[in-house]
Amino acid sequence: MSVTVIVGSQWGDEGKGKIVDILSERYDIVVRYQGGANAGHTVLVGDNQFILHLIPSGILRENTVCVIGNGVVIDPKALLEEINLLESLGINIKNRLYISQNAHLIMPYHKLLDSISESGANKIGTTGRGIGPCYIDKYARKGIKIVDLLDSNVLEEKIKINIEEKNNLLRKVYNHDEMDVDEITKEYLEFDKIIDQYITDVPSFLNTAIAEGKSVLLEGAQGTLLDVDHGTYPFVTSSNPTSGGACTGSGIPPTKIDSVIGIVKAYTTRVGLGPFPTELSDDMGSKLREVGAEYGATTGRPRRCGWYDAYMLNYSRMINGIERAAITKLDVLSNLDEIKVCVAYEINGKKLKSYPTDVNQMMLVKPVYEILPSWKTDISKIKYYDDLPPEAKDYLSFISQQSGFEICFISVGPQRQQTIEL
Ligand code: GDP
Ligand code: IMO
Ligand code: MG
Repeated sequence: MSVTVIVGSQWGDEGKGKIVDILSERYDIVVRYQGGANAGHTVLVGDNQFILHLIPSGILRENTVCVIGNGVVIDPKALLEEINLLESLGINIKNRLYISQNAHLIMPYHKLLDSISESGANKIGTTGRGIGPCYIDKYARKGIKIVDLLDSNVLEEKIKINIEEKNNLLRKVYNHDEMDVDEITKEYLEFDKIIDQYITDVPSFLNTAIAEGKSVLLEGAQGTLLDVDHGTYPFVTSSNPTSGGACTGSGIPPTKIDSVIGIVKAYTTRVGLGPFPTELSDDMGSKLREVGAEYGATTGRPRRCGWYDAYMLNYSRMINGIERAAITKLDVLSNLDEIKVCVAYEINGKKLKSYPTDVNQMMLVKPVYEILPSWKTDISKIKYYDDLPPEAKDYLSFISQQSGFEICFISVGPQRQQTIEL
């Protein structure tokens, strides 16, 4: 049995939800290890579309147990909405969902501070879900955790201290209305009544399960280039989506991780601000957006689209230790005149020797492209690798060789059955 990490290899929205759903059938437990309701993981089951923000995509397989790890920041309102929605669709959550007592809570002031910050000079293009301010409080050691919900006196005291501080800031710096301690305490105590039953000592639960031979799939949110340490800082999220984050965000030690699978879109997209060397701001970009339905699953924002960036994927492979990759949305590249793949970055005509994460350098980068022919045929119903057109096979083998990983899945449509396994 195995412990596998699934990572987004680009800027998020690679199709992690779909691939985690496919793999979940083979694993006993699926764990989300970082991020919050900024994520939007889409799973299509027949005509039903599920967009999961906090609960692992494994919840749609009835025999899979789902865990939200300590690295996740939980907006109780979003969580309850998700639980209610899934239950209304007949999906059983009871005894299948476990939430770490050490996960931090997103508070109303986190969302407010996120939106205030986005209206200033340090705009990132966030999802507005309060993610950054919640992780700020976590690392400033002021955060309120799931475990704090268990004692109403502790909760009230912590909310009081935090709100006094935030009210000071809101009043003095932002000239904004103050927030009400009693109202927020009451609201969070109500959440506790429902969430209480799911609260668990997650590291013990997971490590015992692994010792008993159970298999675990760790589902990352966002993507490598949105990682706060390894991404295109400051245009990143505030957590570690990369594979190292799977250990800190779940309590599973590195010695127990068997493999890392990268989810890799056959082209590139990005939502929000920040450098994007292979971005297409022309008709080709619009075509990829329309054919690939590239609109944010959480915010509905149009995603910026561009060519596949093998230079970036090579970096992503290195940071995450990706050995195998699931290539998604290959169908979107059908019927193009030609397909470009970025194989190197240049600044002032000189090729870079290593991947830049300094944002000023990133802005200057010019992609060096190789051009490949497209396939002028619909591949969305193909079930076996051998039946793919030769140009599609050549494209896959080129990106796999340039990026340095093996391909284990090829996704040719959003449905479960539109998946080729190698
Ligand atoms: P995630 O955040 O990585 O889980 O990805 P999202 O769910 O935000 O975005 C991926 C989108 O692409 C969703 O709408 C999926 O239904 C869709 N999708 C996934 N795989 C494929 C594929 O192979 N082909 C096409 N056309 N759509 C896909
Ligand atoms: P999934 O899991 C794509 C982006 C935002 C913004 C930056 C910071 O569906 O792949 P934040 O709200 O996290 O402070 O925003 O990160 N971002 C995502 N982009 N997919 C996501 O999640 C994202 N989650 C955050 O657009 O640029
Ligand atoms: Mg998404």
